[in-house]
Amino acid sequence: MAYNLLKGKRGIIFGALDDKSIAWHTALKAREEGASFVLTNAPIAMRMGAIKELADETGSEIIPADATSIEDLTNLFEKSMEILGGKLDFVLHSIGMSPNVRKGKDYGDLNYDWFLKTLDVSGLSFHKVLQTAEKTEAMNEYGSILALSYIAAQRTFPDYGDMAQAKAVLESIARSYGYRFAKLNKVRVNTISQSPTMTTAGTGVSGFDVFYDYADKMSPLGNASGEDCANYIVMMFSDFTRMVTM
Ligand SMILES: NC(=O)c1ccc[n+]([C@@H]2O[C@H](COP(=O)([O-])OP(=O)(O)OC[C@H]3O[C@@H](n4cnc5c(N)ncnc54)[C@H](O)[C@@H]3O)[C@@H](O)[C@H]2O)c1
Repeated sequence: MAYNLLKGKRGIIFGALDDKSIAWHTALKAREEGASFVLTNAPIAMRMGAIKELADETGSEIIPADATSIEDLTNLFEKSMEILGGKLDFVLHSIGMSPNVRKGKDYGDLNYDWFLKTLDVSGLSFHKVLQTAEKTEAMNEYGSILALSYIAAQRTFPDYGDMAQAKAVLESIARSYGYRFAKLNKVRVNTISQSPTMTTAGTGVSGFDVFYDYADKMSPLGNASGEDCANYIVMMFSDFTRMVTM
């Protein structure tokens, strides 16, 4: 059922890789609720081609951008405002990647160049997105910028590796920039801590199946699916949460 929660709202959605991605579910839901948006992902992820299907289905344009590149992000924000015909109301940062986790590196044997890459892609990129949004004056008042986190930012989950530090950075940036952006332009900044979800990023974590079942048993309502998360995200983009930040 659709409620037109995002009628007339414009945004940017990062991170739809395939139909399992949380960003993919969010794009479908946001469209259903009346939003128009630009889809973006790292140029390398474009090669998979699936994002094109989502763009056709949602009537959106795609602008490739590496979220660690200020040049790409500036181009993305400026072009998105042109394409959508005005300033933005929402941005979803749905980005995560750790070379150490991907290559199964033990926490006592991390490669530090990769660690920096993890922090840059999964943590710092959120600051870059926020700073670029501010500098390009892209956001409308009460606009909502959101990133996806995981409970390992705050508690110990052995197999999550250096992604735990990246998520701690991400959540801290949401608080620091959330304060700044609210004061400056009444823009809201939040993170949602999602349950384990069977996506490319999720299943890259070793022992993910056990992890998934454990979380499902521990939570009184069970794990939230990608669709459940998308519903929550859409609500966070809507005017029903206009006083919710940080
Ligand atoms: N799946 C889970 O269990 C789970 C749980 C909690 C939080 N999250 C978070 O949700 C978010 C989305 O992940 P997902 O589970 O949908 O997996 P996913 O693999 O579908 O999405 C991750 C996305 O990050 C993109 N990305 C990687 N490097 C990038 C870069 N340099 N620039 C731009 N984009 C880049 C990938 O192309 C991909 O689209 C991530 O932040 C992830 O950490 C996932």
